[in-house]
Amino acid sequence: MLVSPSLLSADFLQLGDAVRMLNAHADLIHLDLMDGVLVPNLSFGFSVTDAVSREAAIPLDAHLMTIHPWEWFPHLAKKGAAYISFHLEAAGADAAKHLASLRAMGVKAGLAIDPDVPVQKLFPYIGSADFFLIMSVYAGFGGQRFIPESLERIAALKAELARRGDRAMIEVDGGVSAANAKELREAGADILVAGSAVFGAPDPAAVIRSLKSA
Ligand code: DX5
Ligand code: ZN
Repeated sequence: MLVSPSLLSADFLQLGDAVRMLNAHADLIHLDLMDGVLVPNLSFGFSVTDAVSREAAIPLDAHLMTIHPWEWFPHLAKKGAAYISFHLEAAGADAAKHLASLRAMGVKAGLAIDPDVPVQKLFPYIGSADFFLIMSVYAGFGGQRFIPESLERIAALKAELARRGDRAMIEVDGGVSAANAKELREAGADILVAGSAVFGAPDPAAVIRSLKSA
């Protein structure tokens, strides 16, 4: 299991410490970019992600919750984002084209959906994506409660990937904690994103370890 802690829940006054802690314990660093349009919140932009990329020793995993996400692909790829995902809700019928452009930049191409998008809407993109991001809360805020129906969505996608012999990974984001990590692994998750469960804990490294070994 790969663990991608979300910096959204870190103390932004101590961001360097957070990145160094993740370098030592996590697999990826999840960066949530929000534009206040696709989702009802703003997070951070390139001034923050560039600073993180200077200090990061592990791959960056950028999750674009913006309209026109493709506008931000080249900069993020240049700064070393090894994984970039964007929302099907933002890309519509052009999603396959944008996944291909990520792959052409040497990036792992990810397609994300919120909980109200039927998981079957991802199926046409099997073969075009390196990973799929199943949101297990509505995108926009950390610290929300995990939506249990997400487990069935993950399992349905996993079954379709297996049926087609496709090796795309499944990333799960929202309300993930040590309490549901095992169920998520059993349903088919390959990458767990966790914000508040990691950064809200007295010992974030211990939480990352328990997520990894779930
Ligand atoms: C929410 C973001 C998540 C968020 C997860 O829109 O995509 O990555 O940081 O936070 P938790 O783990 O607290 O739900
Ligand atoms: Zn995210």
